[in-house]
Amino acid sequence: MKLAASLVCLFTCLTAVAYDRVYVHPFNLFSFNKSTCEELENLVQEGKKTFVPISIESQTTPAYEDDLNNKVKLETRNLSITRRQKLSYLKDFVYVLSVRFYSELREAQRGQNLLLSPNSIYGLLLSFYLGASNQTAIDLQGLLGFVAPSGDPDCTSRVDGHKVLSTLRTIESLLVNNGDKELLFSKTLYLFSAPGVPLFESFVHDLVPSADVFYVQAVNFTNPGEAAKQINTFVEAKSRGQSKHLLTDLDPATNLLFAVDVHLAVSVKKALRLKEPHEFWVDSNTKVLVSGMSVTGTFKYKTDTSKTFAVIEAPVSKNALLVLMQPIDGNDLDKIEAELPLQSSAWLQDLSPRQIKLTLPELTIEGSSDLQELLADMKLATLLGKDADLSKISDANLTVGKVINKVLFKLSSDGADQPEDPATQKEDLVLLEVTLNKPFLLAVFEGKSKAMLFLGRVTNPLSSV
Ligand SMILES: *[C@@H]1O[C@H](CO)[C@@H](O)[C@H](O)[C@H]1NC(C)=O
Ligand SMILES: *[C@@H]1O[C@H](CO)[C@@H](O)[C@H](O)[C@H]1NC(C)=O
Ligand SMILES: *[C@@H]1O[C@H](CO)[C@@H](O)[C@H](O)[C@H]1NC(C)=O
Ligand SMILES: *[C@@H]1O[C@H](CO)[C@@H](O)[C@H](O)[C@H]1NC(C)=O
Ligand SMILES: *[C@@H]1O[C@H](CO)[C@@H](O)[C@H](O)[C@H]1NC(C)=O
Repeated sequence: MKLAASLVCLFTCLTAVAYDRVYVHPFNLFSFNKSTCEELENLVQEGKKTFVPISIESQTTPAYEDDLNNKVKLETRNLSITRRQKLSYLKDFVYVLSVRFYSELREAQRGQNLLLSPNSIYGLLLSFYLGASNQTAIDLQGLLGFVAPSGDPDCTSRVDGHKVLSTLRTIESLLVNNGDKELLFSKTLYLFSAPGVPLFESFVHDLVPSADVFYVQAVNFTNPGEAAKQINTFVEAKSRGQSKHLLTDLDPATNLLFAVDVHLAVSVKKALRLKEPHEFWVDSNTKVLVSGMSVTGTFKYKTDTSKTFAVIEAPVSKNALLVLMQPIDGNDLDKIEAELPLQSSAWLQDLSPRQIKLTLPELTIEGSSDLQELLADMKLATLLGKDADLSKISDANLTVGKVINKVLFKLSSDGADQPEDPATQKEDLVLLEVTLNKPFLLAVFEGKSKAMLFLGRVTNPLSSV
């Protein structure tokens, strides 16, 4: 008995040692360690450099703009094990948060097309985390999904926002960094502050890696109509006409406003543009005619066990997976939306390859959401409210206005409209025909990390732009 016990101890003690050496709790991949905590303590908060952004009305390009857009391309060909662990841990946090926001949006924009960019929403809140101190930082960290395993109240139970940001950006780099001509992705970050509000250089510098392009400008918010007009004109010009009407209204008390604008355009390889218009049933009585495309190939497919919906996963470029979820057997979209999977991996589970002819509308879907409004719907209005401690953004008192996530997604055929060649189809294969002709959900995943980059609902392919 004793021997057995000591053998058990020997075994468990040995593995505990081995375990200790290899196993790092995922939280600690992102947290501050003891030595960085000590360094942080010694850093003097006072006397940090600030700058006042140049006015949006100024015709000159600010001198600091080069620094904001001085990009280092992330190497994504050979990810270290640590980076992969970080990705797989973070992607679930990003997904969980985006499902929370999706549920709020679904209520607020009933019956309309919806589109959101999980990474952008997470990135915006992370930006505030980088600018926050004290309780606000703790609350934001919780919202971002990070719960310290130790529960110690010291700095080692805080995550290093820079590490999170860099991991978040890796997901987007994986999508883009492979010379894929079928896919265009861009992300632009805008920060608008009131005239005379000094911003910490360190804060603005921290946000540089979060987007392809970053603009920081001062706007006089006193006349909200005029301010909204100036911002909309600025964003429209910088996006070369692609992003219009960013703002409809503004709170004149605003002295800080954030927006992130994300575009993804994919032309689906080997897709044929349909010669006839594609019929799409917005509801059981309303039919619209849209341009459609069809693509035949081996895609992954499933129907859920209760036969409520079908899922099809189609690779649309080297690293982008388009996942479409369509109600079947007379079910409606509402039911699927109410039961979205709680883990992003569930979207891609149990799919098996099938030979499929997929027919769907060509899409241009836009989404725009104000995180401040959604946080209020989630009963978290105070998080970025008047009393929020954002003392790493500015030493002035800040009133955060809108925090906007604008998204544009385009899906088209690659332009070929040659007739289908029946001879290329193997006769003995059973071809499953899937036609998207009524409201459906769509998601875009990055293929390597399996992180969800876009999540949306298409109720009417015509109702955007
Ligand atoms: C603590 O973290 C810093 C920065 O992430 C790193 O350079 C350093 O090696 C870490 N120290 C220990 C003891 O792990
Ligand atoms: C990637 O990493 C592996 C193992 O660390 C190494 O053997 C390989 O040469 C690396 N490849 C490139 C392209 O760096
Ligand atoms: C908030 O954090 C700052 C340092 O960033 C510190 O000086 C201040 O005392 C903190 N305030 C509270 C209420 O803890
Ligand atoms: C902002 O605009 C208001 C009128 O709309 C004007 O009175 C005020 O001087 C302006 N502030 C600055 C800093 O330009
Ligand atoms: C911020 O607001 C508080 C209370 O409203 C005030 O006491 C403080 O002086 C203000 N600080 C600045 C820099 O305006």
